[in-house]
Amino acid sequence: MTTATLFPTLLDQTSLGNDALVAELEHSVRILARDDMAGRRWCREHGYRGYTSYASLDDLPRRDPAFADLKRHLDRHVAQFAEACAFDLGGRRLKLDSLWVNLLKPGGHHGAHIHPHSVVSGTLYLALPDGSGAIRFEDPRLGLMMAAPPRLADAPEAMRNFRTVTPEPGTVLLWESWLRHDVLPHTGKGERISVSFNYRW
Ligand SMILES: [Fe+2]
Repeated sequence: MTTATLFPTLLDQTSLGNDALVAELEHSVRILARDDMAGRRWCREHGYRGYTSYASLDDLPRRDPAFADLKRHLDRHVAQFAEACAFDLGGRRLKLDSLWVNLLKPGGHHGAHIHPHSVVSGTLYLALPDGSGAIRFEDPRLGLMMAAPPRLADAPEAMRNFRTVTPEPGTVLLWESWLRHDVLPHTGKGERISVSFNYRW
């Protein structure tokens, strides 16, 4: 019997490999969470448990050299991922469209979502206290499966309908922006800090 694997879903997991930059970015996020009043107001009004710059700041790489360094790293990394995805970009490169920070407090989570208007999305993790919430990716075909039986609990990883990743500080995850994911509830202590981003064509 010959069995092919069709339509793979790529999830890239690497380490930033620069602990000093991770520490610098974490420091920057804590300052933003203290000083970005518009962002703090947005979080309060929208019931965000902690702080995100998502709705208030769209120029972090111009504002802070640590984010400019990160952008340079991500530009290269995303270009490699685009190659792994075999995208035909017509001679153009994917461009950073948005980059925002998240400081999630205990009890916080982020429901299932996709990142519209983007090609590649990802997250860099900066601080992850124990129990602070893994990220879970969902099989994009789930809505088509109707009468399909569940998979065995010990099914090979690529055959499972959900993939949960517990990152470490410095972990960078990349995926195609249509891939639905959620952040599981933060049941630990301390703040879970990450930087998320979208690249468009
Ligand atoms: Fe997301």
